[in-house]
Parts: sequence; C-alpha cells; structure tokens
Amino acid sequence: MASTLLCFLLFLPLLDHVSANSFLFEGFNNNSKLTLEGASVIKTSALLRLTDRSTNIVGHAFYKTPFKMLNKTNSSLQPNAYSFSTYFVFSIVSPRSGSGGFGLAFTIAPSTIFPGAEAGHFLGLVNSTSDGDSSNHILAVEFDTVNGYKEDSDTEGNHVGVNVNGMNSKITEPAAYIEAGTDSNVKEDFRMAKVDAVQAWIEYDSKSKTLNVTVAPLPLLRPNKPLISYPIELNTVFKENMYVGFSASTGSKETSFHYILGWSFSVNGDAPLLNNSELPNPPPKEQDPSSFPWVNLAIGTLCVLTFTLLCLLLYQTLCKRYMRFEALEDWEMDCPHRFRYKDLHTATKGFKESQLIGVGGFGAVYKGVLPTTGSEVAVKRIVRGPIHGMREFAAEIESLGRLRHKNLVNLQGWCKKKNDLLLIYDFIPNGSLDSILYNSNCNFVLDWGQRFKILKGITAGLLYLHEEWEQVVIHRDVKTSNILIDGDFNARLGDFGLARIYDHDQISHTTNVVGTIGYIAPELTRTGKSSTESDVYAYGVVLLEVVTGKRPVSSDQFFLVDWVVENYQLGQILEVVDPKLNSVYDLEEVELVLKLGLLCSHNIADYRPTMKQVTRYLNFDDLLPDISDWRRSVSESSSLSLGFLEATSMMSVGTSKNLSSIDIMSTNSIDAGR
Ligand SMILES: *[C@@H]1O[C@H](CO)[C@@H](O)[C@H](O)[C@H]1NC(C)=O
Ligand SMILES: *[C@@H]1O[C@H](CO)[C@@H](O)[C@H](O)[C@H]1NC(C)=O
Ligand SMILES: *[C@@H]1O[C@H](CO)[C@@H](O)[C@H](O)[C@H]1NC(C)=O
Repeated sequence: MASTLLCFLLFLPLLDHVSANSFLFEGFNNNSKLTLEGASVIKTSALLRLTDRSTNIVGHAFYKTPFKMLNKTNSSLQPNAYSFSTYFVFSIVSPRSGSGGFGLAFTIAPSTIFPGAEAGHFLGLVNSTSDGDSSNHILAVEFDTVNGYKEDSDTEGNHVGVNVNGMNSKITEPAAYIEAGTDSNVKEDFRMAKVDAVQAWIEYDSKSKTLNVTVAPLPLLRPNKPLISYPIELNTVFKENMYVGFSASTGSKETSFHYILGWSFSVNGDAPLLNNSELPNPPPKEQDPSSFPWVNLAIGTLCVLTFTLLCLLLYQTLCKRYMRFEALEDWEMDCPHRFRYKDLHTATKGFKESQLIGVGGFGAVYKGVLPTTGSEVAVKRIVRGPIHGMREFAAEIESLGRLRHKNLVNLQGWCKKKNDLLLIYDFIPNGSLDSILYNSNCNFVLDWGQRFKILKGITAGLLYLHEEWEQVVIHRDVKTSNILIDGDFNARLGDFGLARIYDHDQISHTTNVVGTIGYIAPELTRTGKSSTESDVYAYGVVLLEVVTGKRPVSSDQFFLVDWVVENYQLGQILEVVDPKLNSVYDLEEVELVLKLGLLCSHNIADYRPTMKQVTRYLNFDDLLPDISDWRRSVSESSSLSLGFLEATSMMSVGTSKNLSSIDIMSTNSIDAGR
C-alpha cells in the first residue's frame, strides 16, 4: 500500500511534465510554433511543404521550442536520454516517370540551423565533411525514395533508415508494414511516393533503449509490429536541449514534393493522438496511366438509378434545409441499395495495397470481387476530412448518379463508413484510351474504324453533358486517361470528380483551375473559368491524339497542337497520322478529324465549335468551315507554347488562392504529357 502511494507520488510530477512536453498539429494552419527554413512553406491548404520540385534544395521545419531530452538530475550519473514518441503523416509526390527524391527525415538536433548542410543524399542535415561527426548530435529517421549515400548501405530506393550524426544508416528497411490485427510477420511492401500519404510512428524507450519505427499508408490502422526495432543508446547523441522537426531535400535530378499533413510529439509519454480526419487532404499524385486500365464502368441497372434518384431527391431537400452534409446520415438510412462496408472490405481484401489499381486526386481505387454476387468491381475510396469528403461524395453522386448515357461512366452504388466514402463501379479490364494508345508493352493497335467509333462515342458523351441534359455539365478534365473503352470499343467518359454542375444560363463562378497540362485551354490559365469551350479545347486535343498516337505535350518542348498546325500549314497534314495505322485508314475521315481537332483546340475560344456543331461535322452533315485562312499563324502558335510555359511557371510560384490550387494541379500536369 505504502509503496503504491510512493510510486504514485513519484509518478505525479512526471505526468505533469508529460503534458508540458507534447504538441499536436492537425494540419498547419497556425505556424507560429514552427521555425521554417529553406524551401519550407505552409500552404493555404494547411499542408506543410518541405520541398517543391526544384533541384538541390533543402527544407527544414522545426518546433520552435527545444525539449529537454536528457535526464541530468544526478550529475554523478551518466545522463540518460528520455523516452519520446512521435506520430506524423507525410506525403511524397514524385514525378510520374523518372526519379523522385531524395527524401525527408524526422530529425532531433541541438539546433534548427544546419550550417553548410547539403541537399541530395545529405538530406539537408550534414555535408561530406561533417557527415558522421559525433559533434553533430543528430538523430534522423529517414524516409528516402532514392538509394542512399554509399549505395550498398541503403539497398532499396524506397526505404526507412535510422541515422546518427550522418547519412550512413545504422539500419534500413524497405518501406513495408505488417497488417494490423494479425500475428503474422508478413510484410506488405509499399511505395511511399505512390500512396496518398504515409503514417509514421517513431518511439524510443529509455529503459529498453530501443528505437521503434513503424510505417503504414494512410488510412490503414497502426500495425502491431514495428518495421524497425533498433537497440540504440541515445545519451551521447542527445544534448540536454534538443529541437525536433523535419528536414527534406531534393537532388540534382531526383526531385519530389515533400509534405507533412499532421504531426504530434511527446517526451516521456505517448504522442498525442491525431484525428486523421482533421488532416488536410493529401496533395494529388501524378497519375500513372498504366495504373488506370481498370475501371470500365458499364450501364447501371434501373434499380441503381432509381435508388440514386431517390437518394438525390432526399439529399436535395435535406441539403437545402440543413446546408450541412451531416444530413446525409439521414438519407443514408433510406437507401436500400447501399453497399455494406463489410462486403466492400472483403471484396478489396481490406483495401490491401495489392488491390490498389489507381490513385487520383480524389482518392484511391481498388479492384475487388463482391462476396455477395462474385462480380468484379472497382471501388473508389475517398478518405477525406468529413466536410470535404461529404461534399465530394455529394458532388460525385450528383454528377454520376443523375447522368445517364451510354458513353458515360455510371455509378453502381455507394457506401459510407465514418469518413470513408466509397463509390462502386463495374470493373472491366479493358482500360483507358490512354493506356491503349500509349502502352508500348501491348501489341494491340487500334485500327482506324475502332478509333473513329471511339471518337464518336466521346463526342456523344460530351454532347450529352453540354447540351442534352437538364443542366450544362462541364467535365473539366477531358483527357485520354479519363476515357474508358469497353470490349466493343465503345468509349465511356469517366471521372466526373472534377465536374461541376452549372445551370444552363448561370455564369461559371469557378475559382480553381483544374485540368491537366496539354488539355488546358489557353484562356483558362488567364481567367481560371472553365467553360464548355474549354472542354471542347481538351476534346480537340483528344481528337488529335487519337489520330496521331502522340501525347499532347512531351519533353523537348513538343506541343501536339502546334505540331499538327505546322504540318497543316505545310500542306502535309497526313504526315501526322499515327504510323501504327500502317496507312490503312479512311482518308476523308482522318482529314476531317484532324481539321476538326485543330478547330476545337483553337486558341481563341470563340472559334471553337459547340459539341452540337462538332457532331454535325463528324456525321458529315455539315461541311467543316475552311480553316486555312484564319487558322493561327506560326507566330501565334508559338505564343500558345509560351502560354504553356507561362502557365507552368505561374504554377510553381503561385501565391494567391487561385494560383496555389494550380500549383497543386501542376503536380499532375507538368509531366502528365510526358
Ligand atoms: C497561433 O498560436 C498561437 C499560440 O497558441 C496564438 O497566440 C496565435 O494567435 C495563433 N495564431 C493563429 C493565426 O491562429
Ligand atoms: C560542412 O559543415 C560544417 C558545419 O557542419 C561547416 O563548418 C563546413 O563549412 C561545411 N563544409 C562545406 C564544404 O560546406
Ligand atoms: C518496440 O518493438 C518491440 C517489438 O515489437 C516491442 O517489444 C517494444 O515494446 C517496442 N517498444 C516501444 C518503445 O514501443
């Protein structure tokens, strides 16, 4: 009894100490407690960005006040390093192709400045001279996407390592996790730069003198077992007062955006729990076209449509009344065709990494087999803060559920679980137009008849969106990777995640420029206003892509539209036709599509035809206007290229709200055409 009391009394001051020695950031709206250095900035989206995609840069972000990390109470004893615990969520956005890098490191150091520290594999912490110097007093847990310094010590590019005073890791492991709630030792590998966001737990126990590092992609539960459990004595590494924070760097070729979404830390206690749903949205990833040959979404059943309509009616009434999306909770109950979360969980093997078939700005897409019907589905999982998620969910339901056309993607069903929003589509493996046109591994080449049929399908889908439905729907992200092809070569226009609905006569009030470089109409980069004309522009680019088999933008300053114009002006328009067609095509149709592509992707919006006109041209109902006399001159066309460059540079320096949203887009965009 007495000993319990004594123990309690001894423990009490420690508890006090704990609460004063922790902090928590759920997003970084308030940066007054952080010291930012180098490339680090807080974005308006509450993301802490350590580096952008510039080469050889360093970004630091440290908690402003140092922590007492050594127990020096009895001067005769060797000081002992305190226990600590930290949890954070980070996101690495690498170029879609080529190499990202170098990485970021959770760092504990005696100062927030690192004089002479270098970028690249030094991660902004040391340089070649100071590397490994015991006077550095640095503990760093690195999350690298490039092979580390002294290649053999970090064998995997995508790895986690524990470093003391330098870059030669004490221990490294390829990024992986053991599934939560299992006793197995099977590690699931994952690519830190591929998943939306990564959770990391780092704990040091002063008694066992063990440092544990655990990682898992968001939103998975915390694994039971750490990835790294490394015995280490930190009492000589730490000084009495130490700063905690992050350091990240890019290399001369390898560059990535490095973001922190949330962070908590504690000395002598568990890091405060972070509510992941309070975190800002992870930045959008670069889409890998080969990861999208999945969702092909067939016509939904009448049943599904009835339910969506029912839900929408309810949703609309409730939404008007409450203006808060919590109202969804009510109508949720009344939707008999809601998918059960349990089934989706089973279908996707618990949203396993191996089932992941795509990651987009709006969430991850998993392939699954429904246990109830045995049918293959694509499940889009939107993990967002509650408000955001709800709004997007509502938007998706709005656009997808109510639109019905054979050339559009239809929604099969939906499910909501806490902050997870799930949309279920049919899965048909044929893939996106993008993957069929550009996948060099596949021997299959679309013949002209199939291409023309696909184009007619896209035309019909877009015509429906623009002119045939009760409201004008601007797609806002027409591109080949958003066009899915079914077994009969019917095109289906997909991903209305970006679509916004406008009333027929309502002026677009949009503030965020969305789209993908190469498909963004020139006026969009200036006004930021999406319109049916800007959709037609992107559609025009798609027409040219399908005929030429070339991406809209590629490295070495290639701009598809300009290239076709040049050839057109030289009177050799057929030179641009995809050589894979082996000159087997309908001359009249090819010429029509090319000219129509040029007309649609005209840099002056007013010259572009409406989708109704486009349809008439494609059906040879109307003659295409003579485009030779007013088609942009060479000088104008190079100003269009300049427009592109202008847009990209705007994107990297964007400061206003509008521009910073382009900034996020540019992640996708700049390399998207390459
Ligand atoms: C940020 O936090 C500090 C300290 O808690 C507070 O004084 C300051 O007003 C906050 N600033 C903002 C913009 O919320
Ligand atoms: C390396 O870093 C040390 C401090 O850590 C600094 O004094 C020195 O000048 C740096 N060397 C170079 C070559 O930058
Ligand atoms: C570190 O991991 C080991 C192995 O799972 C575990 O026994 C130990 O309790 C962990 N230590 C901390 C501080 O979490």
